[in-house]
Amino acid sequence: MPLAATGDLVGRAAARRGAVAAFNVITLEHIEAVVAAAEAAGAPVILQISENAVRYHGGRPGPLAAAAVRSAEPSTVPVALHLDHVTSDGLLRQAADCGFSSVMFDAAHLPYEENVAVTRAAAAWAHGAGLWLEAELGEVGGKDGRGPLDAHAPGARTRPEEARHFVAETGVDALAVAIGSTHAMTSRDARLDHALLADLRAALDVPLVLHGSSGVPDDELRRAVGGGITKVNIGTALSIAMTAAVRAHLAGDERAVDPRGYLAAGRGAVTEAAARLLPTIAAAPVA
Ligand code: G3H
Ligand code: ZN
Repeated sequence: MPLAATGDLVGRAAARRGAVAAFNVITLEHIEAVVAAAEAAGAPVILQISENAVRYHGGRPGPLAAAAVRSAEPSTVPVALHLDHVTSDGLLRQAADCGFSSVMFDAAHLPYEENVAVTRAAAAWAHGAGLWLEAELGEVGGKDGRGPLDAHAPGARTRPEEARHFVAETGVDALAVAIGSTHAMTSRDARLDHALLADLRAALDVPLVLHGSSGVPDDELRRAVGGGITKVNIGTALSIAMTAAVRAHLAGDERAVDPRGYLAAGRGAVTEAAARLLPTIAAAPVA
């Protein structure tokens, strides 16, 4: 089926008070694995390419995005393409031409007024190009090798009243909120602030996005979706699965030289990891 639009998938998830999973993809094998997992689960999915992944591919978003578009076309489930954690205006401006239907513009590290100003400009530009725009207020820590934020550090939690103003002032379509998750966790023991999520849900009329979801255990993910999270972002869990499988494959065959052997092992492990997570995220929450 043709590429779906992120806004449509998130809107449909919100209508049934569920969520859509958004997986970060770095290689063609990630893309193939996530699409296969979504088909196996019978669930729509968002493929996300981050600015860091674009940098890994020489700063060009086009080749990997084209692979994602082509891989989504024969899929039996809706697949959307999202450009994640964008800080560069130049990259933002390439999004529509590369097949992305949405962008997460990341200015959460800036002081509030600056975040508002650059996000407002990004949203205006994105909307003019037909793109759905997600932004972040409060800071989900752990990005780019930086450690987790202390829960009491300024910005470590999204403040509902400030978030209401932020959404009104910027016109964003969705908001990533800081409620206790952290990027790049390799253990699944994060505890979320569900009372804060309830306050944010009550204060805001846009879909809420959970970043750093690899570190959030299944029961917390289910509660978060039940409490109003509509898009669940997962990256590190796939990296852990892929790397462990590649490492095991190579350790088990010291004479291996064909990359297809270990890449297939990595791809299979990513499929399994995504297939395990999808039902938890995509299933309608228990009332
Ligand atoms: O935007 C991407 C996500 O927030 C991924 O976070 O790698 O910790 O799962 P994660
Ligand atoms: Zn993130």
